[in-house]
Amino acid sequence: MMGTSIAPWLELAHDLDLSVDFIGIREDTTLDLDDLEEKLTERTRVVAFPLAANALGTTTDAARITELAHAAGALAWADAVHYAPHGPIDVAALGVDVLLCSPYKFFGPHLGLAFGREELLRSWRPYKVRPAAEEPVGGRFETGTLAHELLAGFVAAVDYLDALGWEAVQAHERALGQRFLDRAPDNCTLYGLETMSGRVPTFAFRAEGMAPREVAEQLAAREIAVWDGDYYAVEPMTRLGLQPDGAVRAGFVHYNTFEEVDRLLAALADL
Ligand SMILES: Cc1ncc(COP(=O)(O)O)c(C=O)c1O
Repeated sequence: MMGTSIAPWLELAHDLDLSVDFIGIREDTTLDLDDLEEKLTERTRVVAFPLAANALGTTTDAARITELAHAAGALAWADAVHYAPHGPIDVAALGVDVLLCSPYKFFGPHLGLAFGREELLRSWRPYKVRPAAEEPVGGRFETGTLAHELLAGFVAAVDYLDALGWEAVQAHERALGQRFLDRAPDNCTLYGLETMSGRVPTFAFRAEGMAPREVAEQLAAREIAVWDGDYYAVEPMTRLGLQPDGAVRAGFVHYNTFEEVDRLLAALADL
């Protein structure tokens, strides 16, 4: 297991007396799939992983992780929350058994979203309220009365992204991210991949001689919103030796402009 949504698995392990193991990351912050292969046994039930790391922006090879999980007889359980604003998600192509997401990350309302393979969902017995529909099978996992206004917002968010097109979103984000990588000032140390392949434009960095909080405050004074700390990604931040202060995290999405990237770069150079 790796990623942000770790704590609920630890709670479940506590309640059901399961054991949870963690997969390491390599020097470059990519997931160590050799380590995964070594740790998989016939007793492994679930391989939980994110499509993109929320602290570092590094993406995972979900199709390969799924293949390894399935070869060991385990479920492949993806957390798409951080990846969602940055690219299309094709559960069939990835082959995952379960995928969880949060529409607010892709410009929709605060609603939970889950995909489950039909056969798998049919094999489960949820704590279903009576008004929740039996069919289609996903209904069994819903509330009795659906959040209709949020669902309307969700449909609008999907339509919005569809109108933009993922190709345009990804091309623009890639260009923004590349500009940030190319021009990042020397006083900043980036943690994560230094190219736009294998990542989304979420950048964790430290500025020389300054606490991440101090950097975040100086940027805030210039009306640039970033986050300092560990963003709940305690394991990778510990692995990178960044705790307890974490790092500064700045992310770009499709509505950001080159001028905004330059404004951030100028502010970092002035720290
Ligand atoms: C990878 C990842 N998983 C899970 C979460 C938590 O999702 P939610 O805010 O919908 O609880 C986040 C939130 O930022 C995240 O980045």
